[in-house]
Amino acid sequence: MKRTLMGCIVGAALAFGGSVGAQDNMMPFGTDTEVNYAAQLWTAMESINMVGDGMLRTFPYEGIAPHGMMLETFYTKATVGGHTGTLLVKRNYGPEGVTEDEVLKEPGKHLGAITVMFKREAGYDADNQDWFWAKYLPDGSLDKNPKGMQLAGRVAKGKPKGCIACHSGAPGGDYIFTTDHLK
Ligand code: HEC
Repeated sequence: MKRTLMGCIVGAALAFGGSVGAQDNMMPFGTDTEVNYAAQLWTAMESINMVGDGMLRTFPYEGIAPHGMMLETFYTKATVGGHTGTLLVKRNYGPEGVTEDEVLKEPGKHLGAITVMFKREAGYDADNQDWFWAKYLPDGSLDKNPKGMQLAGRVAKGKPKGCIACHSGAPGGDYIFTTDHLK
């Protein structure tokens, strides 16, 4: 009995110490480092008019869950901290039933979220082709999962649901869905 209790205490202390000391290594997303990187990426996206007041527009098209009812998708490149990579920006409009005309007339009112994939430097996440994932709200803050973790980084890596799990099933093995419409 006594021994078990000690084991528990030591185990808990180790788990706690480990999770604090090596937070960034152990948590694939939502850490200060990832949130900070997401803020830098947002600034980079503002400077190329992907987000913010001067954002470029395309004709939105009908979407599917989980990304919203009307979508705009952009393929471009961005530079963060000296690294340039492919940037995929998806603007998600709603609510359900919203029409193309309504979105075109008042895009700001209907924009629900901006989901982003950014190709980072090699080795960032070699298991998943080095994509950085983020889900922003229109004001540039990050959306959160039900546990309150901010959605930036290797989002939900190793979990059965979420950005990486779903996108790893995209045809062609490149984690990208929309390009498949073009083939
Ligand atoms: C349940 C599956 C699923 C989940 C979870 C998911 N996506 Fe997607 N995503 C899709 C599909 C399907 C498309 C293509 C939609 C379309 O027709 O434009 C897409 C498109 C995208 C695109 C445009 C590039 C592409 O693949 O076509 C980005 C960027 C993106 N998602 C980011 C994210 C981020 C960031 C998350 C997590 C916060 C996420 N997605 C979660 C299914 C998913």
